[in-house]
Amino acid sequence: MLATSTVSDCRIIDLPKVSNPAGNITSINESQDVAFSIERVYYLYDIPGGESRGGHAHKGLYQLLVAASGSFDVLLDDGVRQLKVTLNQPYKGLLIVPGIWRELAMFSSGSICLVLASLKYDEDDYIRDYQQFLSVKKSGDDSSNS
Ligand code: TYD
Repeated sequence: MLATSTVSDCRIIDLPKVSNPAGNITSINESQDVAFSIERVYYLYDIPGGESRGGHAHKGLYQLLVAASGSFDVLLDDGVRQLKVTLNQPYKGLLIVPGIWRELAMFSSGSICLVLASLKYDEDDYIRDYQQFLSVKKSGDDSSNS
C-alpha cells in the first residue's frame, strides 16, 4: 500500500448525523464508518491564520480526518496526481490511506481538525522528506512495509 496507493484510494466517508433543533450529533463507529481499528484520536486546534500542517506521508497509518469545526483544505499527493479536498462539514470524513503525501492549509478561524488514526504515534511511520517519498512511490515496491 505504501508504494502503490493513489489519491483515488482516499475518499470522503459520510458519517451518521442525528439532527436536532437543539444541536446535532455525529458518531463515528469502528467497522461501520471506518474500515480500520481506531488506535488513537487527536485533534489540531488553535491554528494561527495562514499556517499549514502536515507535509509528510505515512508508511502504514490510516487516518480519518474530520472538520469538527470550521473548514480547511487537504492537499493529497501520490507522487503522480494531486487532489485538493475541502473539509467543512462535521459529518464528512476524509479517509487517507498509507503512502499519500498530505498538507493541510487554509484553516478557518477556530477550526478543529479531528483525526482518527489506526496506529499509535510513531515517528518511524513518517516520511518527512518529499524526495524520499517520491523515490518510494517510484520504486513501486510495497514489500518493505504494509
Ligand atoms: P505532526 O504529525 O508532524 O503534525 P502535523 O502533521 O499536524 O503538522 O506532529 C507534530 C509533533 O506533534 C510531532 O513531532 C510529535 C507530536 N505528536 C504527538 O506527540 N502525538 C501525536 O499523536 C501526533 C499526531 C503528534
